[in-house]
This record gives sequence, C-alpha cells and structure tokens, in this order.
Amino acid sequence: MSKTRVLDHPLVDCHLTNLRKKQTPPAAFRHSIAELSKILAYFASADFPIAQTTIETPLENMQGSVISGRVGLIPIMRAGISMVQPVLGLIPEAEVWHLGLYRDEQTALPVHYYSKLPASAPVDVALILDPMLATGGSATLACQQMQDWGVSKVKLLSIIAAPEGIQKVNAEFPDVEIHACVVDQKLNENNFIVPGLGDAGDRIFNTLH
Ligand code: PRP
Repeated sequence: MSKTRVLDHPLVDCHLTNLRKKQTPPAAFRHSIAELSKILAYFASADFPIAQTTIETPLENMQGSVISGRVGLIPIMRAGISMVQPVLGLIPEAEVWHLGLYRDEQTALPVHYYSKLPASAPVDVALILDPMLATGGSATLACQQMQDWGVSKVKLLSIIAAPEGIQKVNAEFPDVEIHACVVDQKLNENNFIVPGLGDAGDRIFNTLH
C-alpha cells in the first residue's frame, strides 16, 4: 500500500460519522461527501506542477502561480458525480470526463455503460472520483480506461475503501495513487464495505427505495 494515502484528521472522522449514520438525510450526506472530496483533492494535488506568472496587485507587480499541467476529473457515474463540483471549486480549470460503470448486483463485477472520452487524452493527470472502493472492480476498469486513453498519471480519490479494493488496484496498477478518507475492516459476503455507509449512490441521489 505504498502509494495509498489515508487521511487522519478529526474533522474527516466527524464527516465520516455523518456519512455512516443511516439516519443522515440525502442533503446532509451530500454535504459531507462534498467537504471530504475537497480535502482529498487538496492532498492529491500537492505535487501538481506550478508555473510562475507575473501579476499586478493593486500595489505592484509580483510573481504568482498557476497549474502548469492539464488536469482531468473522471467521475465514475453515478456516485462520483457528487465529487465533481467540490473538486472543481479547488481546481476550476480542470476538465471533466465521465465514465459510466455500475456493479452487477449478482456478480459484483463492473459493467461499463457510458464513456465520454475523446480519442486521445487531453490531460496530463487524471483524478478518478468515486466515493467507494469495494472489490476494486470498478476502479481497476477505470484505471485501465485511463491507461488506454494515454494518461501518464492517475490518482484515485475514494471517500471510503476496503482493503480488498486497495490491494486489487495496487496489484494491477502499482503506479496509481490512492487517496482515501478511511479504510474499513473488510467486505461482507455481499461485497459491501463494512461497517461502511451503505450504497453511496443511493444515499446521494435518494434512491434507497
Ligand atoms: C458503487 C461505487 C463504485 C462501486 C464500488 O457504485 O460508487 O462505483 O460500486 O464497487 P467495486 O469496488 O466492488 O467495483 P454502484 O455500482 O453502486 O453504482 P452507482 O454509483 O450508480 O450507485
């Protein structure tokens, strides 16, 4: 797990608690997803290359900073959509390219249903956004798509992860960095993260019924 960074901060723990509570309504759930997404993006972007640019303050000229590479946000639909706007708040110049994957309920294998990627990669670094990393099937399929697309640097931002998913991503894509807010105990017999937070997509979009 050398390329895995797991956050350790009391505010992260409080937002995770909000996400885990089954009584938390969708609006509050989305709020905590948004706050944690920003924190993940803050740490995941720590090594972004910066170029110097001359700017004029109200008082004088000085050297300022701009991101020099092209950044792509790759939300895995559906749940990953909830992480886009908060991360765009931090990286407003990022491009957003959507991937549609869902996990088959019987097999737990990812099913690809949508891809909005151009023929060649217009980005230097891709941040894959998905609140959950469970078996790792969806994440590794997304990583494979980034590799096929020609992205040289890929980072995976997950709110909650299972050890099984981290191991799968590390084994198949050792160069991919994983940034997670927490790593839970394990997957249960239905491949759900436990103790977990349920299904993020259903709780974000209020489709539990
Ligand atoms: C969830 C989650 C991940 C995937 C994780 O999506 O958002 O994409 O499952 O599981 P895995 O690591 O075992 O592949 P889901 O299939 O529920 O789709 P949704 O976002 O439409 O709810």
